[in-house]
Amino acid sequence: MSNIESLFASRLDEIPFSGIRKVFAKIRELESQGKEIVHWEVGRPDFDTPNHIKQAAIEALNRGEVHYAPNHGILPLRKAIGERTKIDTGVDVDGENQVIVMSGANEGILVAMLAFVNPGDEVLVTDPNWHHYKSITSIAGGIPVEIPTSAEDGFKIKPEDVESRITSKTKMLCITSPGNPTGCVQSKENLEALAEIAIRHNLLVISDEIYSRIYYGDGEVAPSIYSVPGMPERTIIINGFSKIYSMDGWRLGWTVASPELTQCILKIRQYTTVCVNTFTQKGALIALTGDQTCVDDMVKEFTKRREILINGLRSIPDITVSDSLGAFYVFPNISAYGLSSQEMADYLINEYGIATVAGSVFGTSGEGHLRIAYSCSTEECARGVEVLKKALAALRS
Ligand SMILES: Cc1ncc(COP(=O)(O)O)c(C=O)c1O
Repeated sequence: MSNIESLFASRLDEIPFSGIRKVFAKIRELESQGKEIVHWEVGRPDFDTPNHIKQAAIEALNRGEVHYAPNHGILPLRKAIGERTKIDTGVDVDGENQVIVMSGANEGILVAMLAFVNPGDEVLVTDPNWHHYKSITSIAGGIPVEIPTSAEDGFKIKPEDVESRITSKTKMLCITSPGNPTGCVQSKENLEALAEIAIRHNLLVISDEIYSRIYYGDGEVAPSIYSVPGMPERTIIINGFSKIYSMDGWRLGWTVASPELTQCILKIRQYTTVCVNTFTQKGALIALTGDQTCVDDMVKEFTKRREILINGLRSIPDITVSDSLGAFYVFPNISAYGLSSQEMADYLINEYGIATVAGSVFGTSGEGHLRIAYSCSTEECARGVEVLKKALAALRS
């Protein structure tokens, strides 16, 4: 080991570089050679941020709103987030004392873990899952404990699989519904069963609801564990503006938790990013309180793309795909083709210009699958299905 390497923090050993970065690098290489790519790799909407939201931020900037905001965010925005949470979960939320505006949902997860996870604490995370959960647990000094889920059960988090992994060190259960990479939604009944376990074992729950309004089931929003009696006192909701308002580059998210938990999170937050800049919060305020037609329009567009993808994939021999009732991901099983998920992802990008992410990037239970993000245009989705049909026909022959 060189002298410099001996200075690296040991927590770096626990966290890999994201497998998705490799896909981005490959795409840059192929596009620089003039190749046309089907962009099914990126987990963010392709839409521009709606104009009224941009205008509100521009006006705030022009008014000189360029100074520090309160650590927990500007009050009108916290109140608007409280009201939105009431609409989504049916639970009264006091925006003044229960909400913190974060620099993206990701900061919310990090700060919440730093506030509650002690070194050696175990954190239950589903597998496959958005890989940040495992890495952020490790950064906080915790130990991620995986709960496997499978396509056969629609990626349901089985209560018995949670129960059997609980030890005296278990501190927290992380639920992402709708899920990334699967797009699958945990049913209300299942969330009730998970809530019963969390209450009985005195666990905290992180409920990542960033895709909850991109939902194709009954009603306008996916079920939330926060709605289950007894859960508001032990749940930290993670949510944000990146997906539903197409504001990923703005870096705006939030946490909702009890006043007591919120104080703990705030304590850490005052020493991380301190606060979110003021003028972007003014844009976010209009996002939540203004006309919601932009959300309806986006969800309508995603609905069309989902149908194209699910119907297209189901018309291809030897592919199975779950219903994926939320987010903008489908997670087909391609294992019948005899390639690993990474080999299949490499074949598709190298030979046919189709960019996906190998399921193994999201955990061992993701093996045999590909994550397809239908966050590119509807036309590109339809073209992608045709190219995919050719690519897989060539493999079969
Ligand atoms: C499940 C999940 N949570 C949180 C995030 C991060 O969102 P933000 O852009 O608000 O940090 C993502 C982004 O892909 C995600 O998939």
